[in-house]
Amino acid sequence: MVKGEPPRLPFFITIVDMLKKIPVRDVRVGMHLQEFCGAWLDHPFWRSRFVLTNPKDLKLILESPIREVWIDTSLGLDVEPDATGDYAPVETAETPRRDPPPPVEPRTSFSDELKSAAKICAMGKEAVASMFLEARMGKAIDPDAVAPLVEEMSNSVLRNPGALISLARLKTADNYTYMHSVAVCALMIAVARRLGLDPQQVSDAGMAGLLHDLGKALIPLEVLNKPGKLTDEEFTLVKAHPEEGYKLLEGTSINAMALDVCLHHHEKMDGSGYPKGLNGETISLFAKMGAVCDVYDAITSNRPYKAGWCPAESIKRMAEWKGHFDPSVFQAFVKSLGIYPVGAFVRLKSGKLGVVVEQGEHSLLRPKVRVFFSARSQAYIVPETIDLECSPEKIAGREDPEKWGIKDFNHHWLGDNA
Ligand SMILES: [Fe+2]
Repeated sequence: MVKGEPPRLPFFITIVDMLKKIPVRDVRVGMHLQEFCGAWLDHPFWRSRFVLTNPKDLKLILESPIREVWIDTSLGLDVEPDATGDYAPVETAETPRRDPPPPVEPRTSFSDELKSAAKICAMGKEAVASMFLEARMGKAIDPDAVAPLVEEMSNSVLRNPGALISLARLKTADNYTYMHSVAVCALMIAVARRLGLDPQQVSDAGMAGLLHDLGKALIPLEVLNKPGKLTDEEFTLVKAHPEEGYKLLEGTSINAMALDVCLHHHEKMDGSGYPKGLNGETISLFAKMGAVCDVYDAITSNRPYKAGWCPAESIKRMAEWKGHFDPSVFQAFVKSLGIYPVGAFVRLKSGKLGVVVEQGEHSLLRPKVRVFFSARSQAYIVPETIDLECSPEKIAGREDPEKWGIKDFNHHWLGDNA
């Protein structure tokens, strides 16, 4: 130490001085928000680390149930000198002390979970759109920024898998690519759980699903959103997205298996996939999971040029394809979604028509069905939910809502969330 200089403090002391936990009443535009205290679903943004620049965002924070936030004064404004908050000191060098996460609620009903699932979908779409934008602008991708989102999706799937999975299946032409990422994330989490993977691997699988198509950010929008058939040249551009995504994510904090999914989710068991033509023995478990989840969501979603297949029909068709999917992974997928997945329109033996809203606890063939139409009277009936595990009713087969002239099909089982 040079004589006269102040003693050099250890690095962590500096960090400690930068982080402050403050009440939301003292938050002001120009502050760098580091962490919201409280449940992720209670705060109004998909990410928590950013500089607050918009007064509208400040209003959203003040109106939310969040009461305290962490700020980093090295990256943004400090509290006003005359603020009277009682600020807690930071105890760790690297990250603010997090409040313990709220316990995950036990299983909830489909209708109870829909509201949370709708918010998670909206935030997920925003998060993926934001990452696509960053990729297009050549900015570095930070997978850690979406880790809390993946955790919330995992919690939602644990509470009731059907709600988030079926909401994420509903897409518009504008948001298809982003919502597809959200849907594949939710599906990967469900399959990972079914396969008995540990919690870290479940999170990694979710992260893989959310980021698997990031390379599509580099495809020109007129090609990515083209409603008609692609030319050979355009198809070559699209087929480059796994490798482009790999390049965007390589060297970031992303888990190695999630990175592998990004590169290999279009590989097939018989070696006819791309980019490398790997076969069943050389494709990783995570990439096999990615292939099943990716295809299921693609074929069940409406596109400008093609209506999506019904979930139950999609499961049936995928089961018939040879050489595409790993049979044991596909089996786990079906066990997690059901033979009649949530959202499937079915006819019961009695002639009542309805939508599957929840899987049965014990049988893949006996889900809960929300009936609202009678095939016999060809008219709407008073809606009711029938638990086929506690009823003599049985599913007679799949049905097409259009055939029965049913209007606003999704409204009958998703209500205002449709
Ligand atoms: Fe893809």
